[in-house]
Amino acid sequence: MDIMKAIETRRSTRAFLDKPLGKDTLEKLLSLATRAPSAINLQPWEIYVVSGEDRKRLSRILVKRMRERNISCGPGASRPLPDYFVERQRGLLECIVPNLPEDHDFQDFINEGSCDFYGAPTGIIVTIDEVFSSARLTDIGVFVGYLLLAAHSLGLGTCPIGLITAFDDEIKEFLNIPEEKKVVIGIAVGHADPDGPVNRSLSTRAPLSELVRWRGN
Ligand SMILES: Cc1cc2nc3c(=O)[nH]c(=O)nc-3n(C[C@H](O)[C@H](O)[C@H](O)COP(=O)(O)O)c2cc1C
Repeated sequence: MDIMKAIETRRSTRAFLDKPLGKDTLEKLLSLATRAPSAINLQPWEIYVVSGEDRKRLSRILVKRMRERNISCGPGASRPLPDYFVERQRGLLECIVPNLPEDHDFQDFINEGSCDFYGAPTGIIVTIDEVFSSARLTDIGVFVGYLLLAAHSLGLGTCPIGLITAFDDEIKEFLNIPEEKKVVIGIAVGHADPDGPVNRSLSTRAPLSELVRWRGN
């Protein structure tokens, strides 16, 4: 798939088919994603792949902890957000809610769905060694962007799952991840369910005029 087409047509998938991904497919995906550039070529991403029954077992632990601790997907902000950010958040809700069954609460759908990797056969957990400063999270972001686009061009659906960082301890214990690693993000990967109404949701973007300040000619 042409890179511009991939960028234009990728979207988050929140309903997956119960169809496992082969190791070859996952290796192809990760080989492409790890072509991402990083500062001094440090490649600070460390990747854990959890599939099948193990992915489901992990999700059961996360869902239980999420309910016990009342964890919810949020902006991760230290202060109330300025209105224009709140508006963008509301925009996402407005594009997803019409595609949920009527009795579904949006926040419950996102919280439970995120912990369940939206039913995807595979979850990819990306960690970073605590030796690095937050500057290296930029590298992880580039890696994740590559992974999302590579998956899309391989015909796979993805959803980045930031919510699971609230369960760093549980994930590390389940996957035997060393203490000095930090969970940065999870990514649900699988075949998008073509009949899942939520997958019709198309999020919008702020116009460049809201985001870009120009100077010079
Ligand atoms: C760092 C990051 C964390 C995210 N965390 C979650 C999450 O926990 N749960 C979820 O449903 N979507 C999550 N998303 C997906 C965003 O909601 C989605 O990318 C955004 O609304 C834009 O929609 P699109 O991906 O369909 O273009 C996350 C995306 C990013 C980049």
